[in-house]
Amino acid sequence: MISRSTIQKVNDAADLLDVVGSFIKLKKRGANYLGNCPFHNEKTPSFTVSASKGIYKCFGCGKAGNVITFVQEHEKLSYPEAITWLAKRYHIEIEETQQSNAEKEQRLVEESLRIVNNFATAYFQENLTTTEGEAIGLSYFRERGFRKETIEKFQLGYCPEAREDLPAKALEKGYQKDLLIKAGLVYERNNQLGAIYAGRVTFPIHNQSGRVIGFGARILKSNEKSPKYINTPENEIYSKSRTLYGLYFAKNALSKLNECLLVEGYTDVISLHQTGIENVVASSGTSLTEEQLKLIKRFTGNLTILYDGDAAGIKAALRGLDMAIEQGMNVHVVLLPDNHDPDSYVQSVGLEKFNEFIAKNKKDIIVFKLEVSLKEAQNDTVKKTILINEIAETLSKINRLEDFSKQQDYIRRCAQLLQIEEEGLISLVNKKIREKVVKREQIPAAEAKDLEQQANAESIHTQDISDHLLKKDYLQEKGLIKILLEYGSRPYDEHVSIADYIRLKVGDADFVNILWQKTYHEYYQLLDRSLQYPDIKTFTYHDDEMIRSAAIEALYFPYELSENWEVKHQIKTPSREAVYMQEVDNTVIYFLLRKIKATYMELMDELKITHDNLEEEMILQTSLLELKRNEIALLEQFRTVLAR
Ligand code: CTP
Ligand code: MN
Repeated sequence: MISRSTIQKVNDAADLLDVVGSFIKLKKRGANYLGNCPFHNEKTPSFTVSASKGIYKCFGCGKAGNVITFVQEHEKLSYPEAITWLAKRYHIEIEETQQSNAEKEQRLVEESLRIVNNFATAYFQENLTTTEGEAIGLSYFRERGFRKETIEKFQLGYCPEAREDLPAKALEKGYQKDLLIKAGLVYERNNQLGAIYAGRVTFPIHNQSGRVIGFGARILKSNEKSPKYINTPENEIYSKSRTLYGLYFAKNALSKLNECLLVEGYTDVISLHQTGIENVVASSGTSLTEEQLKLIKRFTGNLTILYDGDAAGIKAALRGLDMAIEQGMNVHVVLLPDNHDPDSYVQSVGLEKFNEFIAKNKKDIIVFKLEVSLKEAQNDTVKKTILINEIAETLSKINRLEDFSKQQDYIRRCAQLLQIEEEGLISLVNKKIREKVVKREQIPAAEAKDLEQQANAESIHTQDISDHLLKKDYLQEKGLIKILLEYGSRPYDEHVSIADYIRLKVGDADFVNILWQKTYHEYYQLLDRSLQYPDIKTFTYHDDEMIRSAAIEALYFPYELSENWEVKHQIKTPSREAVYMQEVDNTVIYFLLRKIKATYMELMDELKITHDNLEEEMILQTSLLELKRNEIALLEQFRTVLAR
């Protein structure tokens, strides 16, 4: 592990402008810098860097972050890898924290497994050139249409039928028996060691940096008793759910083409590569896992699943759907013609026809799922109800803060296909979102049930309004955090700072959005603990990811209106800096007005259900009056602010 103090040093030394500037050309625009976004294709620049705040944002694709996330994204590195990259650039020596004995032991096993896998890869490759290997292994690959350079590139091999050969050679080289067993290469029976893959062809599985971490071994004779493939068992370096076959060879093409093709098997990946389609990986016979999706997402957000057109293929394609949606991926599916898998299809029609087929038959997966299920349900209303619920569940997983219009589009299309009212589907999707929020907050079951019943009872109308409110509150809350982080330490008047002023006015107000709430509390906690105003970097580099991304989002420097005015209309407007006091006043007032509106609505709702309790009704009416008074006072203040 890299020590905290090294990370701190890197944070202090790393200069975002310098790092970004070494990859793309930046031009100064007002207080910020502007260039073509390195994360998506564009002709007019929308990638903005704020040197003073140390953060960037692209207004085209939405990517945003600090210098470390930039290096992570741009160089496709993990967090510690990015720290190491920056440390090298700024000549900072990396200090490792002390490793415990257990950690050292773990490192040692990992390294030994890598070494023994290298040995095995070479052993299998050599055995492809023996008389037996050529007659059995190589002739099999030839029959499958694999050319010599393909066999070499993927390091394919053959394990001889003489079971004792591999263990004997390995022991001779000094590899321990236990290690060979752990690596899944050798078994022990009656004190005899034998090669597990004997008589099979071997497909090494590479990790992201190209090292062999395991094998798949395919049987050649059809034998009902043995499985078609034997794969490496889970060990210190091989985890099936975290591995994608072919990723190492696909890396460049994935970024370049901004699309990942997903197939089922080893041979599909190899055949497509050989034909010239390199942006392809395989999930190796299981449905896609979350870790695998995250791996793909490092390179591209567009996933195209190519599966057999049979029922099992369709099911498999749909299994990872909700997870992929949750990850914000765009997923398409292509079903291949009957009795074809990607391997056989590409070999029978060739590159051009294959690409053409994919382009023509690519279907959005949500729409695809709906069509398949609708066909299945036919006129069965029970099945159709279940289906509507399933679709609402899927649609509720689209991140609406990022993709509000995407969700709306889907709702419209799905409602059309289902032949139901769009409003009905909207309210069902909203209900699912609410249920999830309730679940996440872990409200006790009884209470959750209450809430759900309440939600069910609500009419669509109030639902829409409260949703609208929720979205609005998001902006007001974000605005408040923005001025707090940016101006908190400045004086409001001769007595209090802006942070003090906000605390006085807002206090412990209920935030609707947890990320703003958390950032708000963190600010005052830091302030109270150190009696110093926390600076922006404390937040944009915060350990807590939620706070970090909240701060970065709050500090997004929208295209400054003033610049456009200046450029387009030659009108000079005061900079934000000059009128920041006005911004502070406006933001606080807006925030409070919002909260008053929300409370007002709540009370009105309560009033509706207290028909025959006069006393309660009186209390509610009084509260409403009080709120109205507050609102009027705030609006009055607002007017004075504007007039100033
Ligand atoms: N698989 C497995 N174990 C099995 C069968 C399949 O691990 N007993 C995995 C393998 O990763 C395989 C993938 O599922 O590549 C797809 O299976 P299949 O289509 O049967 O295999 P292919 O690799 O396409 O093999 P082939 O074309 O040679 O039949
Ligand atoms: Mn196949």
